[in-house]
Amino acid sequence: MLGVLRSICSGRTRTVWFRRVREYSEQATQTKYPKRIFSGIQPTGRVHLGNYFGAIERWVELQDSGEEVLCSIVDLHSITLPQDPKILRENTLLMTATLVACGVNYKRSILFQQSKVPMHTELCWVLGSITTMARLAHLPQFKEKSESLKNVPLGLYIYPVLQAADILLYKATNVPVGQDQAQHIQLAQDLAHVFNSKFGHTFPIPRTLVSDGPRQRIKSLRDPTRKMSKSHTDPKSRVDILDEPDVLLDKVKKAVTDFTSEITYEPEKRPGVANLIDIHSLFTGKTPEEICKEAAGLNTGQYKLLLADVMIEKLSPIREDILRLLKEPGYLDEVLKGGTERATELAADCWAEVTDKVFGSDTIRSARRMMNTANVT
Ligand code: AMP
Ligand code: TRP
Repeated sequence: MLGVLRSICSGRTRTVWFRRVREYSEQATQTKYPKRIFSGIQPTGRVHLGNYFGAIERWVELQDSGEEVLCSIVDLHSITLPQDPKILRENTLLMTATLVACGVNYKRSILFQQSKVPMHTELCWVLGSITTMARLAHLPQFKEKSESLKNVPLGLYIYPVLQAADILLYKATNVPVGQDQAQHIQLAQDLAHVFNSKFGHTFPIPRTLVSDGPRQRIKSLRDPTRKMSKSHTDPKSRVDILDEPDVLLDKVKKAVTDFTSEITYEPEKRPGVANLIDIHSLFTGKTPEEICKEAAGLNTGQYKLLLADVMIEKLSPIREDILRLLKEPGYLDEVLKGGTERATELAADCWAEVTDKVFGSDTIRSARRMMNTANVT
């Protein structure tokens, strides 16, 4: 008997048992919550191909397949680094126009500006009180962004807690993001678990939806070992959706390749050429093998011209749409206003539940409960 007990409690069995319990309770909780997709993007700079293929295109696919999608322009996240208010405002409108032009349908999805729903920061405070400084210290984005700063803003440090609040405030079940965000979503999952076990089941455990294949991490055109990024100082490292055709052509021409002239797909040996083929494949839906077959006989210089043409053809209508929408700031404001109203409605329900659980029920309800107790005794 003792032997059996000992083996039940042995480390491995215990770990498996705890995992099963966790999986079981996760499944039980997930089934209670309707599927809801949440993602966010910062209104800083222009949208590049990494943002488009890694995140936005995915949101649109989910929306078009009938899912409930919330897209937040996360300006509270942007101010963790200094911002000029006028430029921030312009960038918010630019991001709204870009998302609409890329296919986010503001009637079907909820497209809104994060700072207009103050419950994000309120929930951030609650979640900040159940996480530890040690848990936040080694998250990659903080490390990366604080590296070059002498005085590191506190906001940059607690940024992932705000991100967790964004997701949990809407009881989101799925979060489509690029690979660089996976650890932040893991924090949101941990905080959902901690909150649920302290205060009772409140939040579903949000699942990360990272795309498979190359679109989860589009590489820089200048250094294919790094991701394409808004913050990279060299604008030639990325293709922005708003790039004029001649600018785009110049960037593609200058993309780093190697000394072999033919087009082959070898991501390990030839990362620069492979990145171009991956991008080509995302634009056309063709496989790398099909692309290489079609490019047989071309050298890298000629292949770059062909790729630039494909990109210009696909991006031009989006670019024109963005420019058209930017001429109608009133309309863009209306789009955001509508989204804010709908987001506020969802958030208010969750926030009421959170405050009841953390601070006790509101006064009317607790007065009623006290009276009932008094009657019984
Ligand atoms: P950000 O530019 O940091 O606001 O990112 C917005 C969204 O784009 C997030 O979901 C990121 O994970 C995604 N993203 C950013 N850069 C890339 C990239 N190079 N490849 C794939 N996804 C990316
Ligand atoms: N941190 C994300 C980024 O830099 C943006 C973001 C903020 C986000 N809140 C979110 C993404 C919630 C997904 C879910 O790209």
